[in-house]
Amino acid sequence: MTAYRFYMPALNHMGAGCLDEAITDIKTLGLEKALLVTDKVLVDIGLVSSVTEKLGGAGISCEVFDETKPNPTVKNVEDGLKQLQSASCDCVISLGGGSPHDCAKGIALVASNGGAIKDYEGVDKSAKPQLTLVCINTTAGTASEITRFCIITDEARHIKMAIVDKNTTPTMSVNDPSLMQGMPKSLTAATGMDALTHAVEAYVSTADTPVTDACALQAIELISTWLRTAVFDGDNMEARDQMAYGQLLAGMAFNSASLGYVHAMAHQLGGFYDLPHGVCNAVLLPHVEAFNSRACPEKLARVAAAMGVDISGLTDREGAERALEEIQCLSWDIGIPEGLEILGVKKDDFGILADNALNDACGLTNPIQATKDEIIEIFDAAF
Ligand SMILES: [Fe+2]
Repeated sequence: MTAYRFYMPALNHMGAGCLDEAITDIKTLGLEKALLVTDKVLVDIGLVSSVTEKLGGAGISCEVFDETKPNPTVKNVEDGLKQLQSASCDCVISLGGGSPHDCAKGIALVASNGGAIKDYEGVDKSAKPQLTLVCINTTAGTASEITRFCIITDEARHIKMAIVDKNTTPTMSVNDPSLMQGMPKSLTAATGMDALTHAVEAYVSTADTPVTDACALQAIELISTWLRTAVFDGDNMEARDQMAYGQLLAGMAFNSASLGYVHAMAHQLGGFYDLPHGVCNAVLLPHVEAFNSRACPEKLARVAAAMGVDISGLTDREGAERALEEIQCLSWDIGIPEGLEILGVKKDDFGILADNALNDACGLTNPIQATKDEIIEIFDAAF
């Protein structure tokens, strides 16, 4: 094995009730005023006021920015940054799922580096660490609370910019499953399939390492065991806890191994039609892995084994087939739409979507590189 590295926030809180301990740790960072980046749903259910109260008790006052859209935009980052500057905040705290975390990363990165968020599209384009960023997570999940990935929609170009930068790694992450208990079924399903996609894409990635493989396989096992229960019995705290752990491991895997064409293609659907990220991934995942199975059938067979399939006596090809079936079955069981057509995707757009997907940094570590025609064929198979 050649030398390798992996990325993680320095401090990560896990488990039911860990938010209180995390706030004690936030207090030790010497911060006074935070821009709390969140969304209106979390304001409406009262979670934002309960967290700002706790932070207030620890001596940190909060300026709330609740404009984050489900696919956070360049304008969200610009507006949040203005609010941070006019209120003289010394740190950013995000509360929510991947959208508030990504928006917060964009704000914190531009706050310390200057310029505009589009200047940082690509890999490691920033010069300085971002402002102190604490991510309090409420979904399972994008794992954005631990990653160096920040995805921002450029409304002008109708694309999602992938900003992959070690300086966007949060300072601290908080995964308290009691904050995930209230997630509706459809959000639990979509975010859970996003996490499964992270694990599978990281596992077959050309940049995988022993550390990322171990995380990915354990994540696949946990998610395939617990996602159905988390969707259909949202108050089951063991399922919420195991999903919080599973999505974290999936995040640890892709944060260093990166992703593949599922994300490269899903980003385009999200940017073009403003569709939910997890749903796009779930629909594309079996079709992209069917394409990948010519390059890494042995790895996909191990994915099947991690999902509980007995692969003894099967060839790698047969094992890979079983992985695709298991993924599809899980996806349909939890109510993910069957194809892109139902989501409003248009075949006429496949050409431009394929061009943009081939420019997305996530595709670089896909196990085999595809031509534009092959990407269009995958979109077509998922239609
Ligand atoms: Fe994702």
